[in-house]
Amino acid sequence: MAQAPHKPLPKKVHIKTFGCQMNSYDSERMAEALEPEGYALTGDPAEADLVILNTCHIREKAAEKVYSELGRMRLAKERRRQEGRGTLIAVAGCVAQAEGTEIIARAPAVDIVVGPQSYHRLAFLVAEAWATGNGQLATDFPAEDKFAHLPERPQGKAQASAFVTVQEGCDKFCTFCVVPYTRGAEFSRAPAEIVAEVERLAARGVREITLLGQNVNAYHGAGPDGRPWTLAKLLRRLAQISSIDRLRYTTSHPLDMNDELIQLFDDEPKLMPYLHLPFQAGSDRILKAMNRKHTASDYEAVIRRVREVRPDIALSTDIIVGFPGETDRDFEATLALAARIRFAQAFTFKYSARPGTPAASLEPHVPDDVKRERLYAVQSLIDGDRHAFDRATVGRRLEVLFEGPGRKPGQIAGRSPYLQAVHVEGPKGLIGQIGVVDILASSPNSLTGVIKSGFEWREPAQAAV
Ligand code: 5AD
Ligand code: SF4
Repeated sequence: MAQAPHKPLPKKVHIKTFGCQMNSYDSERMAEALEPEGYALTGDPAEADLVILNTCHIREKAAEKVYSELGRMRLAKERRRQEGRGTLIAVAGCVAQAEGTEIIARAPAVDIVVGPQSYHRLAFLVAEAWATGNGQLATDFPAEDKFAHLPERPQGKAQASAFVTVQEGCDKFCTFCVVPYTRGAEFSRAPAEIVAEVERLAARGVREITLLGQNVNAYHGAGPDGRPWTLAKLLRRLAQISSIDRLRYTTSHPLDMNDELIQLFDDEPKLMPYLHLPFQAGSDRILKAMNRKHTASDYEAVIRRVREVRPDIALSTDIIVGFPGETDRDFEATLALAARIRFAQAFTFKYSARPGTPAASLEPHVPDDVKRERLYAVQSLIDGDRHAFDRATVGRRLEVLFEGPGRKPGQIAGRSPYLQAVHVEGPKGLIGQIGVVDILASSPNSLTGVIKSGFEWREPAQAAV
């Protein structure tokens, strides 16, 4: 990475993040990479010398939304120019990767287009853009490991719960999905690098780590002897960091849920009882057209094995309705599978074609009103199951990691082991700690409870790493 030869002048950067948790993680790392160059974060785009749009390509019309956002930014840039202030606009994330030069052609106000595999070059690209006034494009998949070139995460107090990307990209090629094209081939970070990052986060007071990857359970990072570690082995190693109390991982593919990983739900108390495992569709015909490489009964068999070792687990999933050729009968199979499993949470999507993916040329299209009806039907079913799951925790005593202030004054909020939001009356000083809470009631989006009296707070993290 290029360092400016002189002490950098203080500047402001505004980062607008769209999409998944991995993008949030990437935005944090971009901010950290720019910090040594003198950039401080600002929430106000009008006062930013550098504005970064960290984009997502999963949602419908993603590229169009980026272009309209860029239209607004162009006006802001022009206003600042009239005041004699320069502004750089950078587009990052999966839309940057997918659209590349098209962005600079269509939106000349954009100075930098940087794909997710090139964030370690961001500071250099920014310096080049200031120095030359020329557009900078970095959307290749470089051979070097970007994580090894990003700066270490800084000191200072962090939030109670943090994400750490351990794996990126995907080799599964589901026919509806852009990820194999925008994030590239599967890549796993080395365990030593991940352990060091988690230790640094632990020293800053982080108590919970969620390992991120588009296909996280296919993790196979090279250990010190060059041999690959499984995700289970990595989780066991991270569990040895004493002040990390909770581990989670997302997103998994059913094919990679091996016995070792499933068994960990029983063997490793720090691994939280929550699993996000997309099934996408319940009809084997549609699953085949999606190239999911599993059937509905394969999926159910995985869930059965998971529930055998951890009967109380909260299960979450992704479901797509209206994939090309999906009949009423196919959709019934999706509803039936969801009903049999009883998810605690689910993310439901209307299929929409992503240019360049194999499914984009499949026919027949499902009319939008049918998609809407199906989405409504599956969401209603999931909502019912989610509320039933939440109601079943009323009366139980659960550990809650407090993450911030609650909705009402005097309240603090946190997450149960099942990732449910929990609100209690309590002092702000408890934020960042784990408490035991008696759950009293459930409402559509959260639980409320009382902190158990006489509870002994755990040791603060700092000393224990
Ligand atoms: N249309 C609708 N939903 C999609 N997803 C991915 N691609 C598409 C698409 N083309 C959903 C899948 C995936 C989640 C992150 O987004 O369910 O698991
Ligand atoms: Fe996309 Fe997930 Fe399928 Fe990979 S496994 S192609 S990330 S939906």
